[in-house]
Amino acid sequence: MKNKSVSNPFIVSGFVSKKYFCDRETELDHLLDNVSNGRNVVLYSWRRMGKTSLIRCFFSQLERTNKAETLYIDLMPSRNMEEAIQAIARAIHNKYKRTTRGLSENLVRMLAQLGFSISFDPMSGYPKVEVGLNQLAPPEHSLQALGQFLAKRKKQVVIAIDEFQQITHYPDVSAEAVFRGWMQSFPQLRLIFSGSHRKMMQSMFSEQNRPFYKSTQLLDLKPIRSENYGRFIQKHFLANGMVIEKHHTKDIYLWSRGQTYTIQLVCNKLFGMRRDVTDTSLKQVYDEIIEQEKHVFFHYSKLLTNTQWAVLKAVAQSEPLTQPQSQEFISRYRLGAASTVATALKMLTDKELVVQEDDHYFVHDVLLARWLQKTG
Ligand SMILES: Nc1ncnc2c1ncn2[C@@H]1O[C@H](COP(=O)(O)OP(=O)(O)OP(=O)(O)O)[C@@H](O)[C@H]1O
Ligand SMILES: [Mg+2]
Repeated sequence: MKNKSVSNPFIVSGFVSKKYFCDRETELDHLLDNVSNGRNVVLYSWRRMGKTSLIRCFFSQLERTNKAETLYIDLMPSRNMEEAIQAIARAIHNKYKRTTRGLSENLVRMLAQLGFSISFDPMSGYPKVEVGLNQLAPPEHSLQALGQFLAKRKKQVVIAIDEFQQITHYPDVSAEAVFRGWMQSFPQLRLIFSGSHRKMMQSMFSEQNRPFYKSTQLLDLKPIRSENYGRFIQKHFLANGMVIEKHHTKDIYLWSRGQTYTIQLVCNKLFGMRRDVTDTSLKQVYDEIIEQEKHVFFHYSKLLTNTQWAVLKAVAQSEPLTQPQSQEFISRYRLGAASTVATALKMLTDKELVVQEDDHYFVHDVLLARWLQKTG
């Protein structure tokens, strides 16, 4: 990955290298401080703020400086404990399958004992880890064996479990307790739990009656500071012989509500025009982005009732909204009975379509908000 050159410095998917990664110095220090001092971390934020990329960046630093071995696990596709364990086993296998003598025998034996089958994909030639014909060992047992394997490594192992809120949807009632037990059994492993459902992550780790209560350090990933982002944007335009004025970078930041993904997307498109940025080109990019997402927005509208959709639209058009229960808000947008509005709003906030911060309500998806604002 080192010194990999790209045709557009504004990356819109994943982490490429530090060169194209804006800021996050404090957060990287913070993660290193926690990991070096035996503390586990929970990383959460609003959507698309950069959690996964921060983990990737942090892990690439740890690996490069030989400080630790890292393991990244994404639980997004998992629907139950068995699939979660499979994801962990697969990540371990991918990481450690190659030793100087080829496949690691101990690892293969251990996975087979747990009920996994290792086969070779005839297309790619790479080994595949699947649940075999035999039933998987009970979750606690499997996790214990996988944990022991990792704990025996000479180097410190740091494991990131992304989209961790997924476990709250598992039908296995004790998923939280099982993971908490796992964490406690292996104090030598460092864990970073990350999740894109902010509220769920917060409550899992800060409610008194939950297994993970006060067991980890919470890191709420905030937007990158506007000035830092502005400098990063200007630097990359300038390095390629193009000019973008400070007031334009500020405008992008505000329009994107500081959300990393949206800023990257706007800048990627502007950069793609290969000319100095003007008011007109900026507006053109905003319009183009919203236009491209239109189908996704229509899809949202089908999933919601008329009242929910009307409330969502009203929230977007009143951004930043402080009093969604007020008569003034309800009658301005003709939303009907206050109780119906309250029910709709509750559904929208539970699903994090609408979110609340510092007494302000807003439509979580920035682009959807911008589109709803435009639709009059
Ligand atoms: N510090 C950064 N500098 C530049 N680009 C970044 C940075 N952080 C994230 N990005 C870009 O922003 C986008 C969103 O980042 P990422 O997927 O890491 O966010 P996330 O918080 O994990 O999102 P989700 O809530 O969907 O899981 C990606 O396209 C990534 O390339
Ligand atoms: Mg992510």
